[in-house]
Amino acid sequence: MAQLFPKSMNVVMRVGLLALPLFAAGAGVAGAAFFRSDYTTGAREVVEQPVPFSHKHHVAQLGIDCRYCHTSVYDSAAAGLPPTKTCMNCHQQIWQSADLLGPVRDSYAKGVPIAWTKIHNVPHYTYFNHSIHVNKGVGCISCHGHIDEMNLVYQSKTLLMEWCLDCHREPEKHLRPVDEVQNMRFAAAGYTDATGKTYTSQAELGRELKHKHLVREAAVLTNCSICHR
Ligand code: HEC
Ligand code: HEC
Ligand code: HEC
Ligand code: HEC
Ligand code: HEC
Repeated sequence: MAQLFPKSMNVVMRVGLLALPLFAAGAGVAGAAFFRSDYTTGAREVVEQPVPFSHKHHVAQLGIDCRYCHTSVYDSAAAGLPPTKTCMNCHQQIWQSADLLGPVRDSYAKGVPIAWTKIHNVPHYTYFNHSIHVNKGVGCISCHGHIDEMNLVYQSKTLLMEWCLDCHREPEKHLRPVDEVQNMRFAAAGYTDATGKTYTSQAELGRELKHKHLVREAAVLTNCSICHR
């Protein structure tokens, strides 16, 4: 009987068989990449808001402290959003007739809060708390990115469990003095503390602050029950 396939097909088959598992692995990697992508985690997605409130303008240009609006960030689990009254402290005088501020005036006149769309969300079965993070020296920028450069806020990190764990394994990479938590331009290299000591790197400062702020070991901070209570 004549050969159905030319001999060269053997090579094709071998290459094909070899490629199959690779292909399957590739699909798995692609799937995992999709699971972690900005699309599924919501990272980098710009969210429409009822009022085009700009952090870039209010924080970077006007220099307003985060706590002026997010009053509970150092004291409780939630940072909180400002009531309309906080906006009106200024906007009763500044830009008081601008169309952009119509919904702010309406909200104030009617006593109905502005319906801001929430951007960052961790699932309800996970416990998160702002106060411990900021009081131990984790900067807003480590978790929220350059808020001071955002016109509209977007989520700059994945907020996935592996992201939380990465830091909980090595928090020293992110620790800064507590009074620098809101600073969007902080750099450990060149930082001088109250005793006059100047640091050359994040590694040096982080190691010292981990000790000073009584930050616990990775084994404790990666324990499931810390976040899933
Ligand atoms: C003048 C008031 C004001 C100041 C100052 C301010 N914010 Fe905000 N912030 C708001 C308002 C209003 C919102 C809700 C609308 C929005 O998401 O943009 C908000 C939203 C946010 C969000 C997103 C909340 C969510 O829905 O997940 C983050 C994160 C945030 N602010 C961080 C900061 C940081 C960090 C600073 C200081 C560097 C700061 N803010 C300063 C008023 C302010
Ligand atoms: C400390 C004073 C202050 C507070 C508090 C404040 N603003 Fe403003 N806001 C300003 C100033 C100043 C401008 C700029 C006006 C200009 O460009 O000349 C401005 C501009 C704006 C604009 C116009 C768009 C822009 O960014 O230029 C909007 C919208 C706005 N603010 C919304 C809000 C809202 C909503 C709040 C409350 C969450 C708020 N502001 C709180 C001072 C303030
Ligand atoms: C360790 C990471 C981390 C740090 C540091 C951090 N945040 Fe957040 N922030 C989050 C997470 C996670 C959420 C979502 C919380 C949720 O869904 O319950 C959030 C939510 C918010 C919100 C939405 C309202 C709320 O209370 O949930 C605001 C506003 C906010 N952060 C402001 C700030 C400011 C201002 C700072 C610095 C002073 C800061 N954050 C520091 C992780 C962080
Ligand atoms: C950039 C670093 C960083 C990131 C990101 C981070 N954490 Fe933390 N977390 C810390 C540090 C530092 C502490 C303080 C640890 C200590 O005091 O021993 C802490 C403490 C905590 C605690 C308090 C533990 C206790 O027993 O009181 C919880 C809960 C927690 N983190 C949850 C989370 C969750 C959930 C996320 C992700 C959504 C997250 N963290 C992301 C650095 C981080
Ligand atoms: C530092 C905080 C933190 C610790 C510690 C932690 N988790 Fe999580 N976990 C999260 C966050 C945040 C989420 C939600 C985001 C996500 O799905 O990645 C989550 C989600 C999960 C989910 C749901 C995943 C899914 O795809 O729906 C499971 C299951 C889980 N964690 C199990 C564990 C187990 C088991 C441990 C201990 C080995 C653990 N976690 C430790 C923060 C934590």
